[in-house]
Amino acid sequence: MRCIFNLIASVVLAVLLVLVVNIVGDAIYPTPGGMKSAHATAEQKAEKAEQEAENEALAEAEESADTASAEEAREAEKEAEKKAEKEAEKADKAEETAGADSGGDKSFADMVAAADPAAGKSATTQCKACHTFKKGGGKRMGPNLYGVVGSKKASVEGFSYSQALKDLGGKWTVEALSGYLKNPSGFAPGNKMAFGGIKDDQKRAAVIAYLKSLSD
Ligand code: HEC
Repeated sequence: MRCIFNLIASVVLAVLLVLVVNIVGDAIYPTPGGMKSAHATAEQKAEKAEQEAENEALAEAEESADTASAEEAREAEKEAEKKAEKEAEKADKAEETAGADSGGDKSFADMVAAADPAAGKSATTQCKACHTFKKGGGKRMGPNLYGVVGSKKASVEGFSYSQALKDLGGKWTVEALSGYLKNPSGFAPGNKMAFGGIKDDQKRAAVIAYLKSLSD
């Protein structure tokens, strides 16, 4: 845009220069008779017309520059709006997560109570590579999980647990299971369940609801 303005400015300057030279030339060398002056006036008229055209072009260019910048401003505004919206969304999500976290284990137990064990069962397909779920089922890579909710941690007979899991102590409450299944290596560093964890709260709650249903 600045390029165009520079161009137009130099053209206007050049035209003015020609005009001034003409006028000064006429003043210094006044020509006898009307011929030259008539010629000069015609020339001046032409110059004037040219200048007017230039001015018009300049005005037009300015106008289009104005609309262009107005468009740009509108676009920038739109972008800023979008950004703000996204930010608000993010803040909302953060609040939700914070709420879920601060709601803590109590609300997770509620989630388990409300969850659908059948949905949890289908989510345990990924566990079956390493676990059996039936009563009296054998061990695989991991121990049998029948009745695990409420049982003592690391207590299935005949399974050789890692020291990390044995050192946890206590029972598999809903909350403890949630912590372990959300992030196995974070909950019990050094344990040997090679599983990434179920990050989705709803899904984890459903899996635990299913585990809970596996009892006498
Ligand atoms: C790659 C194999 C693997 C997968 C997949 C796996 N686990 Fe495990 N799991 C293990 C092993 C091995 C242990 C024993 C860990 C130890 O002793 O350190 C274990 C231990 C457990 C325990 C503790 C049991 C006890 O007796 O204290 C629970 C509960 C458990 N897993 C649930 C699950 C669930 C639910 C899934 C699926 C969502 C799952 N695991 C997926 C291998 C696996």
